[in-house]
Amino acid sequence: MNNENKLKFSDDALALAQRMIKRYPEGKQKSALIPLLHVAQAEFGGWLSSDAMDYVASLLNISSIEVYEVASFYSMFNLKPVGKCVIEVCHTGPCWLLGSDDIVKYIEKKLSIKVGGTTEDGMFTLKTVECLASCGTAPMMQIGEKYHENLTLSKVDDIIHECKATVVDHVTHWSICVRIVAKSSINVFDILCFRFIHNVKFSSAS
Ligand code: FES
Repeated sequence: MNNENKLKFSDDALALAQRMIKRYPEGKQKSALIPLLHVAQAEFGGWLSSDAMDYVASLLNISSIEVYEVASFYSMFNLKPVGKCVIEVCHTGPCWLLGSDDIVKYIEKKLSIKVGGTTEDGMFTLKTVECLASCGTAPMMQIGEKYHENLTLSKVDDIIHECKATVVDHVTHWSICVRIVAKSSINVFDILCFRFIHNVKFSSAS
């Protein structure tokens, strides 16, 4: 674990992280890892560099590899820079059966990127992810906190058009949420609800 990290949380984010850590019994602080990774991702531009993960490890007094293992397992954590809108298309069985491959190919062509890539203007990143628990409305994808369900190619057109028009910046949005929640008495689950409720047009509030 590197204790000479270049990255550090803002005062607000650090206060929030410390509050999260205190929720767990002595010796079980590692349980705060996932909430802290959410905060780190919000603080450090929407993705987790090795420095960011090392910093989280130092806060929890665990080894960096433990953080890398968790961060690389969950698709909601980005291990490289992403665009303002991260499009996550579910490609697990039910969505695949109902055409997720076609949706992915269509977005790739429309945005001139491949899965895992980001558009040159930094607007969109395209990812494929495992089941997002919305199989009954397959095929579906997630952008920020919002689910887009029963997708058709025409719906995809509308969604991408709306993203461009509203310039929803989920990275900035998340970061604002951390600042607000750090000053309140609510917990990380409230952050997620807060993000969901305020999903749209939040970037201009920065
Ligand atoms: S398979 Fe796509 S949401 Fe479950």
